[in-house]
Amino acid sequence: MRKIDIFDTTLRDGEQSAGVNLNTIEKIEIAKQLEKLGVDIIEAGFPAASRGDLESVKKIANIIKNCSVTGLARANQKDIDAAWEALKDSESPRIHIFLATSQIHMQYKLKMTPDEVIERAVSAVKYAKDRFTHIQWSAEDAFRSDRVFLAKIVTEVIKAGATVINLPDTVGYSSPHEYGELFKYIKDNVPNVDRVKLSAHTHDDLGMATANTLAAIENGADQIEGTINGIGERAGNSAIEETAVALHIRQDFYQAQTQLKLNEFKRTSNLVSKLTGMPVPGNKAIIGANAFAHESGIHQDGVLKEKSTYEIITPELIGVNSNNLVIGKHSGRHAFKNKALELGFELDDAKLKEVFVVFKDLADKKKEVTDEDLFALLTDKQTEAADVPKYELKSIQVQYGTENIPTATISVILPNGVHIDEAATGSGSVEAIYNTLEKIVAEPVKLLDYKLHSVGGGRDALADVYVKITCRDRESSGRGTAQDVLEASARAYLNAVNRLLFYESQALKQKVSS
Ligand code: KIV
Ligand code: ZN
Repeated sequence: MRKIDIFDTTLRDGEQSAGVNLNTIEKIEIAKQLEKLGVDIIEAGFPAASRGDLESVKKIANIIKNCSVTGLARANQKDIDAAWEALKDSESPRIHIFLATSQIHMQYKLKMTPDEVIERAVSAVKYAKDRFTHIQWSAEDAFRSDRVFLAKIVTEVIKAGATVINLPDTVGYSSPHEYGELFKYIKDNVPNVDRVKLSAHTHDDLGMATANTLAAIENGADQIEGTINGIGERAGNSAIEETAVALHIRQDFYQAQTQLKLNEFKRTSNLVSKLTGMPVPGNKAIIGANAFAHESGIHQDGVLKEKSTYEIITPELIGVNSNNLVIGKHSGRHAFKNKALELGFELDDAKLKEVFVVFKDLADKKKEVTDEDLFALLTDKQTEAADVPKYELKSIQVQYGTENIPTATISVILPNGVHIDEAATGSGSVEAIYNTLEKIVAEPVKLLDYKLHSVGGGRDALADVYVKITCRDRESSGRGTAQDVLEASARAYLNAVNRLLFYESQALKQKVSS
């Protein structure tokens, strides 16, 4: 059985998804979950992109101990230095350097000749070699590159010290057969290829990312890259859960395995979905809500008689637990703590005290508090920035009638501790709320996106709202969960403003310390 390394880029390529904007606390929470899942490598960000990115990568590299942490760099000294600053204290420092090799990219984007590209790649790898133990080099747009040139540059960067060679299908153009052939070609035409691992990195523009990744494995890739839920640039990256479960279920065919704990997939997927504000479609392979639902009578009949008639994956395999112990308003602190632990949250005494109050409040309103409710509540609390002045919602009242002008009256505690009440109207209830909050925040906040979905099913399901705003030329996103849609809307808005304040306070701290 071959072992396939899993390189997770949820926090780098995934974070490049339109509208996704994670802060350091959220990135750390995801990184810890990826460590639990058992990925081999976490690409934590692009340190040269901003001071904030560098600091996040550094924090993750210092916290995560059971997998290797890496950061992306362009092929220049400034980027490599930034990556070194972020990663030098990690267990065995690893860098990911990329440079485009296709004619289109070299001519129009880089404006460099092929020889100049080889020289740049080789000198970047040599420069990195003095610092890093592991050097991954990526030929951006490898699939659309001239094969002879690709083999030549790969040979040279291996001579310079690269330890992993990644051959991305950057624009998701390849078919599985062709992508497999690319790996075979490089194996057959790069004389020093046995000194490195080959890695596959695919995008889903034509819906073939997972099939392409699997084809690369069949043709010699030892490492595959992807993201949780397949999030990423444009149509996204290949979804790690799809490749890993395919390898597991079809071990007979692929003869390859990963070291992932597959039963951590559901939690990882939920966490990434919640923190990025990107819902997972119901019909998404492996982790979609309908992935194990049998709707038609014929299928139901078959599954009742013998599960394997229509079920090739069990829900338990990926961590969907059907025997949930439900807790409610009579549950005590001990049961709550155990439940939180079961859901993957370790609460210290202070946090337990704080979250237990919120839980009791929810349990008073809802008959049964489900795992999904608790997961939403605990994730929000776990990723809340502490010790940062913030806007806090005290109360909200909305008047709506088909014959009236919707009016919101809201009470908020300002970051300086002052209590303020405001009211405003709008053409709908949510607009009335946002007009009121805009008066309170006293900043020109522009709403760019608003998404609402329910946490689980049932009439008393919680509402989860995700918003994206701009304020003072900066984008921020926020989430709010409440039993009522309007309260969740107000909470999401204030959360987005608070995240902006948090970002600004962090940026200020960094400026002062540098
Ligand atoms: O898709 C791509 O080519 C990339 C590289 C930076 C590896 O993400
Ligand atoms: Zn990519």
